[in-house]
Amino acid sequence: MKAVAWHGTHDVRVDTVPDPGIEQPTDAIIRVTSSGICGSDLHLYEVLGPYLDEGDILGHEPMGVVEEVGAEVTHIKPGDRVVIPFNISCGHCYMCSKGLQSQCETTQVHDHGTGASLLGYTKLYGQVPGGQAEFLRVPQAHYGPIKVPEGPPDDRFVYLSDVLPTAWQAVEYADVPEGETVLVLGLGPIGEMATRIAQQRGAGRVIGVDLVPERLQRASSHGVETLDITAYDGELPAAVRDMTDGRGPIAVIDAVGMEAHGAPIGKLAQRLAGMLPDAIARQMVEKAGIDRLSALHAALELVQRGGTVSLSGVYGGAIDPMPMMHMFDKQITLRMGQANVKRWIDDLLPLVTDDSDPLRVEGFATHHLPIEDAPHAYEIFQKKDDGAFKVLLRP
Ligand SMILES: NC(=O)c1ccc[n+]([C@@H]2O[C@H](COP(=O)([O-])OP(=O)(O)OC[C@H]3O[C@@H](n4cnc5c(N)ncnc54)[C@H](O)[C@@H]3O)[C@@H](O)[C@H]2O)c1
Ligand SMILES: [Zn+2]
Ligand SMILES: [Zn+2]
Repeated sequence: MKAVAWHGTHDVRVDTVPDPGIEQPTDAIIRVTSSGICGSDLHLYEVLGPYLDEGDILGHEPMGVVEEVGAEVTHIKPGDRVVIPFNISCGHCYMCSKGLQSQCETTQVHDHGTGASLLGYTKLYGQVPGGQAEFLRVPQAHYGPIKVPEGPPDDRFVYLSDVLPTAWQAVEYADVPEGETVLVLGLGPIGEMATRIAQQRGAGRVIGVDLVPERLQRASSHGVETLDITAYDGELPAAVRDMTDGRGPIAVIDAVGMEAHGAPIGKLAQRLAGMLPDAIARQMVEKAGIDRLSALHAALELVQRGGTVSLSGVYGGAIDPMPMMHMFDKQITLRMGQANVKRWIDDLLPLVTDDSDPLRVEGFATHHLPIEDAPHAYEIFQKKDDGAFKVLLRP
């Protein structure tokens, strides 16, 4: 089959590899029909190379049709249409039963002391072959796959794998009281979907911050008050306070993560880590700070005293400097983590199956490309060229 494989920093290729097969009675094989490229994939493309091997298959936002199931998989059968969550979780351990599927104790990666295994996401998360491929082996398929109805296009459902539950959790963790203001940093797919969900769930005002003109435009077209950070040169906090009775928003969502614009030292460290041999680079990632923290620091600065910062952008450093005095003094609540995908599906399914498409998921993607175009797709998504906002590959 054809699959998108990592070959190095800024080097993904479409390789021909053996088809996957059932290995465990809890596995399923799906034929992938749509597969998203995510901001998290850009971290693999740019920063996290030391945790990948050449040939690792990428992708964690797939949906498709069941081809084959193992003996213990009973809730889906060949021919069913399914979306596959990016976290691989068992559904019956202590963490899964608490709704913390991203911490699943059955699939935690003990070698790295990390949470649940993820599809297509480095040795830190189990080095499981991913879903930007014609076929995918789905581990823990007795629990993970989400059955969706026939009829509507894939674009209706594919975001249940990651974008929708991640944005939903970001808003849930932000804990915005009805009618109050939330600010979202980063208007990529996750941040922009979080603005839509915050509106849907009753936030009074939604402010969005980014620096890409098309992304600012896209958010403002549905009622988000947008700010372009490049227009403020350090004065963003004052501008936001001016808009919010001098206090700042009650909640801030950071949907930017470790590759934030405006952090030259972090950028240098990331570039350096990318040039070093893997073993040394891993030491640098694990023992030093390699994150570009400008968005996180902005979130802590912008939020109202006593407010909440909800972090869905991914970070990875170990000694990232944090403004502890400020955080303590302002009495900030900080919540974060990988999305617990299955936890939010019951909330989301009614919205994506509603004929009126309240979150407007159809039309969310800007590009639908054949899998052969994956190298081009990664490049335009990273550079934000050609209006690339969300790319779905069609294997
Ligand atoms: N928690 C989870 O489970 C989860 C799931 C999916 C993605 N993520 C993470 O969410 C983040 C966003 O993902 P995405 O798919 O939307 O990707 P993306 O890279 O397209 O989005 C990031 C956006 O932030 C903007 N940005 C950069 N620096 C900024 C700054 N200093 N201030 C404001 N905006 C800034 C960029 O222009 C871009 O639009 C990534 O870190 C990704 O890894 C987390
Ligand atoms: Zn993703
Ligand atoms: Zn579990």
